[in-house]
Amino acid sequence: TIPVILDVDTGVDDALAILFAVAHPEIDVLGISCVAGNASLERVVENTLRILDVAGAPDIPVAAGARRPLIERARDASHVHGEGGLGTLRLPPSERTAVPISSVELMHSLLRDSPHPVTLVALAPQTNLALLLRQYPDIINKIERIVFMGGSASVGNATAVAEFNVWHDPEAAAIVLDSGVPTFMYGLDVFNQVAVDEAAASALLSHDTLVGRTVGSLLTNRISAGAGAETHYSGLIGDAGAVCALVDPGALRTELRPVRVELAGYGRGQTLVDMRSHPGEDAMHGLADVWETAEIALDVDVERVTKLFLGTLGLA
Ligand code: BDR
Ligand code: CA
Repeated sequence: TIPVILDVDTGVDDALAILFAVAHPEIDVLGISCVAGNASLERVVENTLRILDVAGAPDIPVAAGARRPLIERARDASHVHGEGGLGTLRLPPSERTAVPISSVELMHSLLRDSPHPVTLVALAPQTNLALLLRQYPDIINKIERIVFMGGSASVGNATAVAEFNVWHDPEAAAIVLDSGVPTFMYGLDVFNQVAVDEAAASALLSHDTLVGRTVGSLLTNRISAGAGAETHYSGLIGDAGAVCALVDPGALRTELRPVRVELAGYGRGQTLVDMRSHPGEDAMHGLADVWETAEIALDVDVERVTKLFLGTLGLA
């Protein structure tokens, strides 16, 4: 099995990712770290605990982490995830409670005690990961790699060029990319593709399992392009696609590419990916060392991933 720690801002599609990760026999969820992003930290923690109930998950430790980005204020995304963070889904309060230590301490102790290197899966602004890497730099020896949903080699969503998770805390993303840990970027180039069609998602609303009905509600959550804008069906499995990539990497076309996070001006939060076929003249201009390297997901077999997602949850 693949030992993982999830870092989430649950969040409609973080919920789908947690349900998938807990259900997949090859994934061992050691713990879940929460961060403010799609909703406030309190909502994110509560939503995460409730989704673990729906999943019928064992006692997985959940910790509360950063309340806001390293530098900026927190900015919510209720036009995408609803006021409570889970769209129109209403779940009963959980008997579970968060552990009484911070995300950074939870991640550190899970990594330290794991006999095998652990994959960190970041589905949210990367504030907690950046704090962990700064506070415990030696722990990178215990991290297999960091798989993050975030960024884009093309279009943005929070701005024309920046994806929400990276835009929400650009300095944190820059720290993660610069950490020396191998990174895998599951960005909007693939995130925006993997969707379940409306008829199939709507049919799940009357599924005979709680997981099925919950997935139906999450997938049919209507989103708008911005506060006040009209809503539409998307059916995206979103963050869950990054978790699918752990168990079926062959469903993606990826390339190792130079990447950097823009920190200034309108481009703040953009992940700039160098798609040139040759290194160009950067070195001549003294710009060679402004790049990090990451494995970038550029394309995806949508049918294969939606089948994996629904099949794992017993919904195909
Ligand atoms: C990302 O931001 C959040 O809205 C989603 O949960 C996903 O992690 C997409 O930009
Ligand atoms: Ca998320």
